[in-house]
Amino acid sequence: MTRGFPAGFRWGTATAAYQIEGSTTADGRGPSIWDTFTARSGLATGDPACDHYRRYREDVRLLSELGVPYYRFSVAWSRVMPDGRTVEPRGLAFYDRLVDTLLDHGITPMVTLYHWDLPEALQAEGGWPNRALADLFADYALTVHKVLGDRVRQWTTINEPFCAAFIGYGNGDHAPGIRDEGAALVAGHNLLLAHGKATRALRSAGGEQEVSIVLNFAPVLTDVDDAAHREAARKFDFLHNRFFLDPLLGRGYPPELLADLAHLGTLEPAIADGDLEILAQPLDVLGVNYYAPARAVPLDDPETDSNCPLPGLRGMDVQPPRGELTSLGWEQRPECFTELLLWLHEHCDGLPLVIAENGAAFEDEVVEGRVHDEKRVRYFAEHLAAVHAAIERGADVRGYMAWSLLDNFEWAMGYTQRFGLVHVDFETQERVLKDSALFYADVVARNGL
Ligand code: FCB
Repeated sequence: MTRGFPAGFRWGTATAAYQIEGSTTADGRGPSIWDTFTARSGLATGDPACDHYRRYREDVRLLSELGVPYYRFSVAWSRVMPDGRTVEPRGLAFYDRLVDTLLDHGITPMVTLYHWDLPEALQAEGGWPNRALADLFADYALTVHKVLGDRVRQWTTINEPFCAAFIGYGNGDHAPGIRDEGAALVAGHNLLLAHGKATRALRSAGGEQEVSIVLNFAPVLTDVDDAAHREAARKFDFLHNRFFLDPLLGRGYPPELLADLAHLGTLEPAIADGDLEILAQPLDVLGVNYYAPARAVPLDDPETDSNCPLPGLRGMDVQPPRGELTSLGWEQRPECFTELLLWLHEHCDGLPLVIAENGAAFEDEVVEGRVHDEKRVRYFAEHLAAVHAAIERGADVRGYMAWSLLDNFEWAMGYTQRFGLVHVDFETQERVLKDSALFYADVVARNGL
C-alpha cells in the first residue's frame, strides 16, 4: 500500500554553513564563535568539513541526481560581514553563485540566516546576551536579502535559538562556551527579538517571501502518570518546547515558566516594553526539527537543581534514553513525532508546519563502493510514516527536509557522528550515495512511502 503525501509537498535536504563549507579564512571571511570555540577547546574544527565552499557545484549535481527539489542551507554571517557589520562582497558572491547553481538545476533554495555561527567580533561585544545584536542581525538579514531576494522566496531567520542560547551560553557545550544560566535566558530572549526585527526587515523589503523560524522540539515522556511526574514533565516541556514558541505566537512567556525561572532573576528584566510585540511577527510557516523525546522524573525537593542542561530547571531530572538508540545516544520514537505534529497543529492554531530537520547518526562504512545504512533507512521510513500519520490526522505539514545531505561537522562531536544521506570521506572528500539516499530519492519521486 502506498502512503501518498499531499500534492506539492516540499521534499528537501538540509545543511548548515559551518558544518559543510570549510574555507574558513577564504575571501575575507572573519572568524565565527565556532572557529574560536573549537580552537580554544582543542576540538575538531569546521575546516575543511566537506570543503563545500569549493565543491558546491559537485554537491548541487548530487542533489540534482537525487531529484530532491528543495535545499535548505544557511548563510554564514561572518562571510557576509566578517566583523558583523561591514559587507564583504566576495562572501555574498558565494551564496549568489550557489543560488544560481541550484536554480540552474531546478532546485529551490531555502535560506537560513543564522545557524549558530556568530561573528566572533560580535561575541567580543557580549554575544547574544547583548540586545544590540538584534538590530545588527536585522541589518545583516536585509543585506543578504538585497542580493538573494530576487530569487529566494523561503527565508528562515534563526535555526534552533534553544541551542544557540541554552547550550552556547548556559551549559557551555557549544560555542561560545559560556556557562551562565541567567545570561542564557537573556540570550534566548534576544534571539527572539532578533528574529522579530529581521522578519520585519525582510517583509519591508517587499517581494513575496515566506518567513519562518526553525525550533527544535523534544516531547517529554514519563513512566508514571501522577501529579508529580506531570509537573516534572511540564517544567521540562515549558522550557524546552514553549520558551520560544509561545512568545512567537503572541502569547508571551507562559506564566508558569516565568515562575520556574524567577530564581535566576534575569529574564523578566530583559523584556523591554514593546519586545513581545516585535518578536511576535506573524509567521508564514513554522520550521520544526525533531530528533528524539526526553524522559522526566520528579525530585523530592522542588529546589534541587536538575541534572538536565537547561538553564534554571529545578525539582526534576531527566532520565537516560531507552530502547533503540542512534550513535549519538538519541532514543528512536517515531510515534512521538506524530504526537508532536498534532500538538503543534493545535497549539499554533493551524499554522503551516515544515519539517526543517529530521534524521539520525549511525556508524557507516563504505564496502565495495556502497554504504548499506539499513538503520538510517529504517529511521527515515518510520519517521516519514509518522509524518504521514500526522497529516492523515489533520496536521498541516507542508514539507520535509532530511538532515542531512552530507556527513558533516557535528558541532562539539566533530566528525564522529554521520548524519548524511551521502557519505563523505573526510580525507579525500569523496562522496558516496548511501542506501538511505536511494531510499529517500525513491520516496521523493513517488511522493509517497
Ligand atoms: C540540530 C542542528 C543541526 C544538526 C542536528 C543533528 O540540532 O540544527 O545543525 O547538528 O541537530
